[in-house]
Amino acid sequence: MPDYLLPQKLVLTVREAQPEDAEQILLVSDQIAGESENTTRVPGELDLNVEQESELLQASLVASDQLYLVAEISGEIAGNLSFRAGKRQRTRHAGEFGIGVLKKYWNLGIGGYLLANLIAWARAGGQIRKINLQVRVDNLPAIHLYEKHGFTIEGRETRGLYVHGEFIDIYAMGLTIDPE
Ligand SMILES: CC(C)(COP(=O)(O)OP(=O)(O)OC[C@H]1O[C@@H](n2cnc3c(N)ncnc32)[C@H](O)[C@@H]1OP(=O)(O)O)[C@@H](O)C(=O)NCCC(=O)NCCS
Repeated sequence: MPDYLLPQKLVLTVREAQPEDAEQILLVSDQIAGESENTTRVPGELDLNVEQESELLQASLVASDQLYLVAEISGEIAGNLSFRAGKRQRTRHAGEFGIGVLKKYWNLGIGGYLLANLIAWARAGGQIRKINLQVRVDNLPAIHLYEKHGFTIEGRETRGLYVHGEFIDIYAMGLTIDPE
């Protein structure tokens, strides 16, 4: 996977996560969870230790139906994207992903490069024919990013999230992956 030149002369590497990234990924994931209210998780809810995370990353590395990408800047993990397909015959063509970038790096294009690499991986692999995601209806930067990469809104689920005593709707968005 190539490197990318971002604004402020930052050099971004997008690569598959390695088992040795486990500790940093857990820390960054928790930080991302605390920097917005747009994730399903709040800090501390990821109930995995470093060894368990490392095993999951190793499993993802060898699986053809999973992809765990990290965005790295000067050796620091700045964001991540995790995709997993269904496990059954009738669901293994489709999967869902989650994405997050550290707040200090928002709007530099990192989310876009992570997403572009997921789509390229799915297109090259042949097995994945549909990429799905869920997003808060008021998460405008994320919706903009997904639409820019071809995703469309397929449905609206009411009361998908409950935050500070309020229910929040979520959109189901999707992108078809067909042979070119
Ligand atoms: C959503 C997220 C991953 C995007 O990452 P990112 O690195 O900032 O993404 P990019 O810089 O590639 O793209 C962001 C786009 O949103 C646009 N944007 C920013 N604020 C916006 C707003 N209020 N309304 C519409 N678009 C907006 C930016 O201009 C940019 O679009 P452009 O490339 O056309 O200029 C990041 O904001 C994040 O981690 N948020 C917290 C967690 C989260 O929401 N995860 C997704 C849950 S579904």
